[in-house]
Amino acid sequence: MPFVIAVDGPAASGKGTVASRLAALYGYPYLDTGLLYRAVGMALLRAHHDLDDPIAAEAAARLLDLKALADPALRGAVAGEAASRTARHAGVRAALLELQRVFADQEPGAVLDGRDIGTVIAPGADAKLYVTASPEVRAERRWKQLTAQGEDISYPTVLDDIRRRDARDAGRDAAPMKPAPDAVLLDTTDLDIEAATDAARRIVEAARAGRVFRP
Ligand code: C5P
Repeated sequence: MPFVIAVDGPAASGKGTVASRLAALYGYPYLDTGLLYRAVGMALLRAHHDLDDPIAAEAAARLLDLKALADPALRGAVAGEAASRTARHAGVRAALLELQRVFADQEPGAVLDGRDIGTVIAPGADAKLYVTASPEVRAERRWKQLTAQGEDISYPTVLDDIRRRDARDAGRDAAPMKPAPDAVLLDTTDLDIEAATDAARRIVEAARAGRVFRP
């Protein structure tokens, strides 16, 4: 049975860094599932389709070419907002489900990060982490990342975007963002990357040993 590590949480919580570092540590493949929704959102924008149209959105998800995931534009603020709007459609989520489940089901294990990995994609995952941080700290991290990529965007705009995206992702009907009942919460507000990775590793080690993690 593959050992599946599910890492969920809101935007810029540090979940991507933690997930990719866990994957490197254990030698497992890693899937950033946010990129799937970002790619669907960008495909819709480029085709001048309405992001709120469930039929067009599902069709774009079914036609998704995995080569599109390498597009650097997916890392930008426009793609993040487009992803969140398309991710609300149940048809889009259904179209992307199988691909994620197949990814999770590989020996000797896999790491996936997103919003619904521990609740919908891999509810039987061996280790589940829900990574959070305050909206202000997340906005600061995302603002630094976006400006380093050359985007001209202000901190208040990024904070607004993050708050709006959190509300939309947590409030939607289809696979809302929320911790799985058996997920371990990891708050990275006051942690640097090394400390966050170390805490995540201890959570996974506890799961491997069949123990309940105690912070
Ligand atoms: O993680 P990232 O910020 O790249 O995700 C972009 C958007 O994609 C999220 O705001 C969310 O709406 C959507 N998403 C999702 N389910 C996932 C991963 C991402 O709904 N598993």
